[in-house]
Amino acid sequence: MIRKWIRNTRMGYIPSQSGIMRRMLREEGGWQSHLLKTSEYIQQAVKRQNPRSIRILGSGWLLDVPIKYLMDNCEKVVLTDIAHPNQIINKYSKFKNIEFEPLDITNGIVDHGYKQRKKSYNHEQFIKEIENTHQMEFSEEMIISVNLLSQLSIILTDYLSKNLGLTNSQVIEIAKAIQNRHIDLLPKGKSVLIADYEEEYFNEDDRLIGSKPSVYIPFPKGEERREWRWSFDSKMMYREDCKTILRVAAVRL
Ligand SMILES: C[S@@+](CC[C@H](N)C(=O)[O-])C[C@H]1O[C@@H](n2cnc3c(N)ncnc32)[C@H](O)[C@@H]1O
Repeated sequence: MIRKWIRNTRMGYIPSQSGIMRRMLREEGGWQSHLLKTSEYIQQAVKRQNPRSIRILGSGWLLDVPIKYLMDNCEKVVLTDIAHPNQIINKYSKFKNIEFEPLDITNGIVDHGYKQRKKSYNHEQFIKEIENTHQMEFSEEMIISVNLLSQLSIILTDYLSKNLGLTNSQVIEIAKAIQNRHIDLLPKGKSVLIADYEEEYFNEDDRLIGSKPSVYIPFPKGEERREWRWSFDSKMMYREDCKTILRVAAVRL
């Protein structure tokens, strides 16, 4: 338990979760429309499918999850995250139909990455490990991956880059392998995927000056695709000297 907490802190999972809350408060209105659109998309999909049990992947602070609606309409709601914020555990653990499952959704790749050392790192082998990881299976009637896909690889590759000195193409290869595995994990016919897939950079005059993918695999076509922009950072703190807007897509798989 303590080892995992130390790992999650050192690798940046816990600091990045606190960072989400700080940025959301700093950005005020800029995040609201994204959070609302995500929540509404989930609520519509649940209304249509009417599952008895549901699992949220990347639940975090539940900022983008219509938790009250899910609690009122599902017999069981399983919240899944590598680390649940204490405030969320304190607030929701008294409800009988809410379960918390602290879980690395890559099924062990985080721990594997934590153990890598610069001297012995073998990139091809690391990619194979990701590709061959045993795939988890979820028993719930509906699975929602919420603003998680890009995060699954970014936090890990930032950590590995700092410690192992990865090249840019190695970072992209790891991201592709992790993102592919995540899409495979989502059972077809009963999943929702909501994820940012591109970062757009704007200067002070709001002129587009560049962009970079955050998802390196083709975004699944799915059904009922919706798209919007998430005004992620207007204070020029995520990337220095530019504002960042994320392009987000939502689909039913
Ligand atoms: C951008 S947040 C999604 C927003 C979140 N629903 C909220 O309201 O805070 C991504 C979430 O994914 C979680 N996460 C990142 N990597 C993970 C992993 N390997 N396994 C499980 N959860 C992970 C983070 O801890 C974070 O809570």
